[in-house]
Amino acid sequence: MREERQLRKTGMQKALAQYGDPDFAVFLRKAFIKAMGYTDEALDRPIIGIVNTASDYNACHQTVPDLIAAASRGVLLAGGIPMVFPVISLHESFASPTSLYLRNLMAMDAEEMIRAQPMDAVILVGGCDKTVPALLMGAVSAAVPAIVLVTGPMLAGDWRGERVGACTDCRRFWARFRAGDLNADQIAEVNSELAPTVGTCGVMGTASTMAMAAEAMGMMLPGGAAIPAVYAERRRHAERTGTRAVAMAAEGLTPDRIVTPAAVRNAFRTVMAVGGSTNAIIHLTAIAGRAGVEVDLNDIDALGQETPVLVDLKPTGQHYMEDLHREGGLTPVLRELGGLIDGTCLTVTGQTLAENLAAQPADFGQTVVRRASDPVFSGGALAVLRGNLAPRGAIIKQAAADPQLLSHTGPAVVFDSLADLAARIDDEALEVTANSVLVLRNAGPKGAPGMPEAGYLPIPKKLSRLGVKDMVRISDARMSGTAFGTVVLHITPEAAEGGPLALVRSGDLIRLDVPGRRIDLLVDAAELGLRRAALAPPAPPPDRGYAWLHGCHVLQADRGCDLDFLTAEGVAR
Ligand code: FES
Repeated sequence: MREERQLRKTGMQKALAQYGDPDFAVFLRKAFIKAMGYTDEALDRPIIGIVNTASDYNACHQTVPDLIAAASRGVLLAGGIPMVFPVISLHESFASPTSLYLRNLMAMDAEEMIRAQPMDAVILVGGCDKTVPALLMGAVSAAVPAIVLVTGPMLAGDWRGERVGACTDCRRFWARFRAGDLNADQIAEVNSELAPTVGTCGVMGTASTMAMAAEAMGMMLPGGAAIPAVYAERRRHAERTGTRAVAMAAEGLTPDRIVTPAAVRNAFRTVMAVGGSTNAIIHLTAIAGRAGVEVDLNDIDALGQETPVLVDLKPTGQHYMEDLHREGGLTPVLRELGGLIDGTCLTVTGQTLAENLAAQPADFGQTVVRRASDPVFSGGALAVLRGNLAPRGAIIKQAAADPQLLSHTGPAVVFDSLADLAARIDDEALEVTANSVLVLRNAGPKGAPGMPEAGYLPIPKKLSRLGVKDMVRISDARMSGTAFGTVVLHITPEAAEGGPLALVRSGDLIRLDVPGRRIDLLVDAAELGLRRAALAPPAPPPDRGYAWLHGCHVLQADRGCDLDFLTAEGVAR
């Protein structure tokens, strides 16, 4: 009963430390916070928490202090008090073994600190790939009014007259270096141009995809997804976010009113329309799972088939995020999707998505955002595959694949782990041709652990020297949103859980049939039964710490790789 009373309280009265005397708890709290110079009058205002994800390890978040200053200004202008607090920060290339492995830890940190500290609303400042999903997962579970503020994309660079940007071009140039097209000096020059400013990757990678998805879901102010990190407009957007957060606190506009099944569908559809990252399937499934919204991969596939890719952006197209911002960001995309988007969904503005769109500037002759009648790709950016290799599903970003390889049968070349892959992929003696199907296993949520972005297996050097640019590659791993190729990902269940991928042997024929939505191992059932009987039992989880927690509780890709006890339903007792 006392807890219920506390939940209804606001500002400094909320989330009290337990001393058995609530009035004393407030008295003590105020004594300490006054040490920072606050007056009683200030402390009577609504409190807006602002998550600080700045870190010297995270260039994508280098502008977070500026954004916090701008958002705080907005909070103060609206009569609130901003309170900045830290949570874990994750950068893709500075999180070992993977950022997905740590995403759930960040989500737990965000959830518990939002719940544990007094705040009437919270501004979620994120950007780099896993940070926005983690913050949203935490905020949905914490059930406090929340609004997303992303750091925004970096600008594109230039190498010898060619526009370049992280990280599609990181991979493209690295492949050219591996093939002997570029020398060591040239690749070093490229390295200095790929990220010419701070901010998130400037292509439609996971960070940009999740920013677009968060805006489409209604969790961000309109127009906020694509503004470059270094633009003044990004700071003005931050100020507006702060102002709006104060109103959200008064309205009690909690995430459960926004993250509805229809809003989740809008987000998935946006991912398809922008040619977004495959990682978004995992993240949106996890966010939806926190709100008790179930995601069925078959629905995602059906939704993909009717949604054209409209945004001509790398890695599937030509342009960069700064170009998309110049043409209006997400607004023209949602307008072009028309009736495919549910405009009745409530958003952080307190208005519906349709009302927000109506208030945005008129479209003009776009080149980055295509008309639905002239899409970049009409068959659905992402496809969901099933078959005897993936009973619970697998994903392919067909918009980024070689169309010639979408129906392909070839002999498997199996790598048992990332270490095995690294040791043998460039071995001149490796029995592999352009017709082969490269298989990587034990790279799933439990197997690696943390489902590394290793699904984009490199083309063996001896083939890349011959000009081979793409091959069918399959795995239980993920792929960076900035990568491309005929790459089947997220095979579920993963090999480390005893999924059929564990039964494949080099030389077995594998058939990929994207039009038929199938991925199959062409080995008869009796033989597969014998192989299964001989399979070693799954390895036990590590014996301590977060590794143990993750190993015991991480869900498979079709459940968003969340920890089972963090979903809305929790674990059965
Ligand atoms: Fe941070 Fe790409 S590494 S968004």
